[in-house]
Order: sequence, then C-alpha cells, then structure tokens
Amino acid sequence: MENSEIGSSGVIRKRSRRRVVTVTMVAAAVLAASACGSSSKSSSSTNPTTAPTSGTSPTTLNITPASFTSDFSAMAQLKSLVAKGKGLIGVLLPDTTTSARYETFDRPYLTKAFKAAGLSSADFKVDNAQGSASTMQTQAEADITKGASVLLVDALDSGSGAAIEASAKAKGVATIDYDRLVKGGASDRTYVSFNNVTVGQLIGKGEVSCISAWNVKKPNILIMDGDPTDNNASLFAQGYNGVLKPYFDDKTYVKVGEPAGTWTPSIAATTFTQQYTAHPNINAVVTPNDDNANAVIAQLQTLKIAAKTFPTTGQDASISGLQNILKGYQCGTVYKPIYLEAQAAAAAAIYLRAGEKVSSSLINGTTKDTQANTDVPSILLTPTWVTTANMAATVVKDAAVKVPELCITAVASACAAAGIK
Ligand code: GAL
Repeated sequence: MENSEIGSSGVIRKRSRRRVVTVTMVAAAVLAASACGSSSKSSSSTNPTTAPTSGTSPTTLNITPASFTSDFSAMAQLKSLVAKGKGLIGVLLPDTTTSARYETFDRPYLTKAFKAAGLSSADFKVDNAQGSASTMQTQAEADITKGASVLLVDALDSGSGAAIEASAKAKGVATIDYDRLVKGGASDRTYVSFNNVTVGQLIGKGEVSCISAWNVKKPNILIMDGDPTDNNASLFAQGYNGVLKPYFDDKTYVKVGEPAGTWTPSIAATTFTQQYTAHPNINAVVTPNDDNANAVIAQLQTLKIAAKTFPTTGQDASISGLQNILKGYQCGTVYKPIYLEAQAAAAAAIYLRAGEKVSSSLINGTTKDTQANTDVPSILLTPTWVTTANMAATVVKDAAVKVPELCITAVASACAAAGIK
C-alpha cells in the first residue's frame, strides 16, 4: 500500500522469524548470537525505525513529528546539530500559479523553521522555479556551486526531480523530497509530506457527507484529478476513489468521468466546460485543489446554479476556497498546516547537513516509489478537513488566513454564522 503507516514492523518481524528458522536449520548453537546481530543488521537497511547501531548514529533528540507546533519551539532542540553542520540548504519550490501555498506558506515557514533552529540567512536559500523544470535544475546547480550540502526538492515532475537528485548525489549532496515524492529519486532520500492518501480520503468523505447534507438526489459526479506528473495527484485520487467506489458500484452515485488531470486552473475550467456540455447532468465535482474548484465554481455561478445544490471539493485552504465554502459552493477543503511540514523538512535537512542520518524518531511511515520499487522513509503529517463548522477553530485560529481578507462583504454573514471574528 502506498503511503502506508509504519505498521510495517509486522513485515520486519516476519522477516526475522524466517531468518531464525533458517539459522535453526543450519546450527542451533549459533542462534542466540546471530539472531540479535543479524536482525538489527537486516532491519537497519529496511526499517527506518531502527537506528544504526554504531558510528553514524544520529544525535538523539526528543523530537518526533508530534513535536512541531505553531510556535516553532521544537526547532531549538536542533541547535547542536546546526553548530555541527556545514554547507547551504537549498530549497527548490515549484511554482506560484497552481497553489498560493508555496510563496504564502512554504517559503516563510521554512525560513522561520531554519532560523528558529539557529541557521543564519547565509545557511539556506529558497528558490521558486516559476513552473519551469529547467529553471529548477539551474537553481539546484547554483546551490551546489555555492556549497550546498542538502537540497529540499519539491519537483515539478519526477523526471526533472530525479535528474536534480542524481546530480546532487554525484556531488555528495543529500536530498529530501519535499511534499511530492520524486519517483526514481536518490536512493537514500527522505520524503516529507502530509499523508496524501488521507488527504484524498478526506476529500471523498467530505463529498459524500455534502451530497447528503445538500440533498443531491441523483449524484452525477465528475472527478477532476490533479496533474498526473505529480505523484501526490495519484495518491489523492487513490484516497477519494477508494471512498467513492462503493457508491459507484452500488449505483447510488454515477461517475460521469475522470478526464486528464491538471493543476492549472484555466485548463480545469476548459475541462469542466467540455464535460458539462457533453454531460449536462453533472451535479457534483471532486477535485483536490481549491483553485481548480474555483474555476469550476465561477462557471456554476455564471450558469446561475444555486448555492448548496452542486457539491465541489478542494485542498490547500486558500482564501477563495474558504470563501467558496462560506458561499455554499464548496463542501470543504483539506487544510495542511504548512508550518508542520516546513519544520519537519527543516529538521530532516539539519540532520543531513550535520552529516547524520535523519533521526528515526522523526520517521513515521514509508511511501512507495513505484518506479524504483522501494519504500522511501517518510515523515507524514496529518491533514484536516475544513468546513464552515471548524473553520474558526482551524485555519482562522492558526492565522492561516486573515479574517478581514476572508470575511469580505459577500461572505460577511456566513462568517458571522460560522463564529469567525
Ligand atoms: C500538490 C500539493 C498541494 C497543491 C498541489 C498544486 O502536490 O500537495 O498542496 O499545492 O500540488 O500545486
């Protein structure tokens, strides 16, 4: 299973048991001595939860994915590692158009996390490739020339990400897949993200509950996926398609189609127009992106489709997404507190910069690289489904959105009803 939690300890146990049987057959006398040593040896290469036994052991800190909070206080624990490390940490972000998150949250939160751990501005650099894979490649090479010891790669697509990681590895630069897994990436990388299958499941469940809350009689659902070159898009789809399948199978819902996916809102708008023209019975849309949902919703409003009749979904808790929820055109959005992801990635990068492995206490899962057929040790954070019911207690409380910007005249009464002040 992709993005599986580390319940894989069961696998490890099975493996050592098999080993024990073999050893027993060879010579029972060796058993006691070898079982211990060999099981820890075999698991250190396959189980990220097992720390190496000697030499390269990471500095032990009391830091886990649950340590990160909105005040960034956990980052101070990393100061000794920062002192030990050298070289630049280069962050490569993908674009500014498919989601506001990269410039609005990732850049400032990564900066804050690095500084809270004691890095100076000269120790890290955050670039945005503005949608161009060749720009990202150039930025990566520039970082390496400047003495980077770690690259955090949020790739535009796996092919270009893998090329960046191969070139980094050849020069002894460690890599982290940030948010999106690079299929075929460097063999020893760490992946830092939210649990993306969970993201998709939240979207699927949100659509189901909205269909019943808005009393949609015969749901005819158009599934609008994210960009197929982004591994996350497949994981999101795995999540929501898994939730919706039983409803399609028992014919409670009709799946109208699942056309080629995109992260570009203007392309999503064209896709929706074409699909809606061909299938005017579409009365619900599933999409894992607020900006794509917004492109659909703009058309619904032009068509004078009433609020709370046509469920749509989204992700990233963008202002327009949250406003569309308040207006009754979007059921909810997946909120990923980027401050958690930024701190986790910064912590992992700081270990690598110090020449150590990422601490096993930080690793809480594995993610399948379907190209390399490997399980990539992962730090997976927990996303939240946000509706009008919990908007005040989540995104507003976290200041992920500013109330005056959110509660414009068009949604003022909905804000008040949702207790957003
Ligand atoms: C995904 C990412 C989302 C969203 C989307 C479009 O990979 O996880 O948060 O930003 O890309 O850029």
